[in-house]
Amino acid sequence: MKEVALDVIIAGGGIIGSSIAWRLSQAGLRAAILDAGRLGAEASWAAAGMLAPGGEFEGSSPIHQFALANLRAYPAFVEELQSESGCSIDFQRFGAIEIAGSEAEWQRLAARAEIQAELGISASSMSPEQVRREAPLVNPEIAGAFFYPEDAVVNPREITHALSRACRERGVEIYEGVRVRAIRPETDSVLVMTDAGQFAAGWAVIAAGAWSSMITVEGCELARVFPVRGHLVGYSLEAETVGPIIRRGHSYLLQRAGGFTIAGSSTEDCGFRRDLDRAIITDIENRAAQMLPMLAERTTDTAWLGFRPATEREQPVIGPAAHPLVWLAYGHYRNGILMTPLTAARVASGITASSEMDCFGRSESH
Ligand code: GLY
Repeated sequence: MKEVALDVIIAGGGIIGSSIAWRLSQAGLRAAILDAGRLGAEASWAAAGMLAPGGEFEGSSPIHQFALANLRAYPAFVEELQSESGCSIDFQRFGAIEIAGSEAEWQRLAARAEIQAELGISASSMSPEQVRREAPLVNPEIAGAFFYPEDAVVNPREITHALSRACRERGVEIYEGVRVRAIRPETDSVLVMTDAGQFAAGWAVIAAGAWSSMITVEGCELARVFPVRGHLVGYSLEAETVGPIIRRGHSYLLQRAGGFTIAGSSTEDCGFRRDLDRAIITDIENRAAQMLPMLAERTTDTAWLGFRPATEREQPVIGPAAHPLVWLAYGHYRNGILMTPLTAARVASGITASSEMDCFGRSESH
C-alpha cells in the first residue's frame, strides 16, 4: 500500500458515515469524514428514529433479515456509544400499536401479521378495548389493532451528536463544508477530489445519502440514488403520554422521553426542494389527530423535512464498488437509522480485513 496519511476517507457524515468512521477508528485505522454541510444535518437530523421492521416489511425481501438483525443489535450499539461518548441517547422499546380503522383494514393487518410471523416479526392482535386500556389517548373508533412488541424508537440527533464526539476523541479528522465531487482509484490508494482540494487515502467510502451517486468514481458506475422527500411535524406534549409508537399505514406518531412527539410523514419525488409545503403539513396534522384525537386541540410547534435516499430497487447498497478500494454504504431509504449498526460493522470489518491482508502481504514481501 502506498504511504498515505489517511487510511480511509468517508464521503458523508450522517449517521451511517459517522458510524463507519467510529468503527474504523476503533479498529485502529486513521479515518476522515468529509461532509458537504455539517455532520448529521440532513436525513439523520430529519428522521423520526422509528426502529420498526413491522411497519416496513410486508413480505420477504432481501433485506428484511438484515433489518431484524439491526434491531437486535441496537441496544448494544446505543449502550457502547453512550459509554464511549459520555452522551446520553434516548432509546425506548415500548413496541408499536398498528391500528385498523375499519374491518377491511383489520383483515389486511391480520393477513400481513401472518406473513410477518414467518419472517420473524412478531405481532399480536388487540381488541379495541385492549387498545383503550394500553393507549387511552388513541381514537376509540377503531376496528382493532396489532401490537409489535419489539419495535423501538431512538433519537437520531442524539446518536449523531454522540458519534461526532466519539469520532473526535478517537482522532477521526472531520471536515465540514467540503463536498466530495469525484474519486479516482489508483493501484494502491484513492484520490478524493473535493471543492477544497484533493485528499489521498487507502480507501474511500461513499455514505452521502441521497447525494451519493452524484459522486463520480472513475471506472465504476454507481447505483443511482435519489431523494424522496418527507415532512414531519412536532408537538410539545407532557412526557409519557403516548407510550408505544402509534401507526396506521405510513402515518405514525412517536414520543421522545421528554414528551416531544413527532408525527409523519409524506413521500414526494420532487428533488432536493427545501421549502415546506403547508398542505402536506396540514395533511399530516389531520392524520395525526385521526390517530390521537387530543392533537386536534394542539398546534404543532415545528415542522421540518428531509431527503430519504432511495434506490430503484428500494434496497441499500452496502459493500465494495467495482473497485475494491471504494466502498459504498447508501440507499437505506426509509430505514437508515435502523440499519446503521450493521451497515457500519459490515463496511468497517470489510475494510479492516483488507487492510490486515495488505499489511500481511507487505510484511511477507519484506
Ligand atoms: N421511516 C419512516 C419514514 O421514512 O418516514
